[in-house]
Amino acid sequence: MSDAPCSVVVLISGNGSNLQALIDHSADSQYRISGVISNKADAFGLQRAGKAGIPTRVIDHREFADRESFDQYLMAEIDAFHPDLVVLAGFMRILSPGFVQHYAGRVLNIHPSLLPAYRGTHTHERVLEAGEPEHGVSVHFVTEELDGGPVVLQAIVPVAADDTRDTLAARVFVQEHRIYPKVVDWFAAGRLRMQDNAAWLDGKRLGVQGLREYMS
Ligand code: GAR
Repeated sequence: MSDAPCSVVVLISGNGSNLQALIDHSADSQYRISGVISNKADAFGLQRAGKAGIPTRVIDHREFADRESFDQYLMAEIDAFHPDLVVLAGFMRILSPGFVQHYAGRVLNIHPSLLPAYRGTHTHERVLEAGEPEHGVSVHFVTEELDGGPVVLQAIVPVAADDTRDTLAARVFVQEHRIYPKVVDWFAAGRLRMQDNAAWLDGKRLGVQGLREYMS
């Protein structure tokens, strides 16, 4: 990788607290956020980006006939920023195979569960309902399999007996904001890559659940 910082485009749909964590860490990291794109005009993350002086775009998926045409337009907008990496930060859209292939090995996502467990939505509620002793968050490469790409890093938190959805989500969010900038910086530094449908860090192939960090 050249000496230029790794250019990152962040896709959001909502609050953008993970975007904020990425913004806050970028000064001490080898990545720079070139642009932020939202499929929702009222996403608070757009204001966060604006405050940080980062260019923003809104592309409303409801204005497109189908997923493929939305994704084609989205790809053109992303490519206009010439990113090295696309980072999904609460981007609540399923991506078409064409999109995933176009950026193969260059898309990261954060998901609030210990993948491969609890793919999909409402993870905190489902973990509580199941009475799980632990929960957490995963950062993974995006492949055509929904929430199924190679995991890079997981942070594991305990589930307390009196946890509610909100207390558990808050505990997980602390870890989301800690691990996402770290993984993006690994990629930016040229330490992390996807190959043979696995994540590799510093030349070592990671296991199915990536690196795991236990938080007490
Ligand atoms: C985060 O909890 C993130 O892990 C989750 O959406 C939230 C976005 O919060 N992503 C997914 O569920 C993806 N399947 P944020 O907008 O405050 O970063």
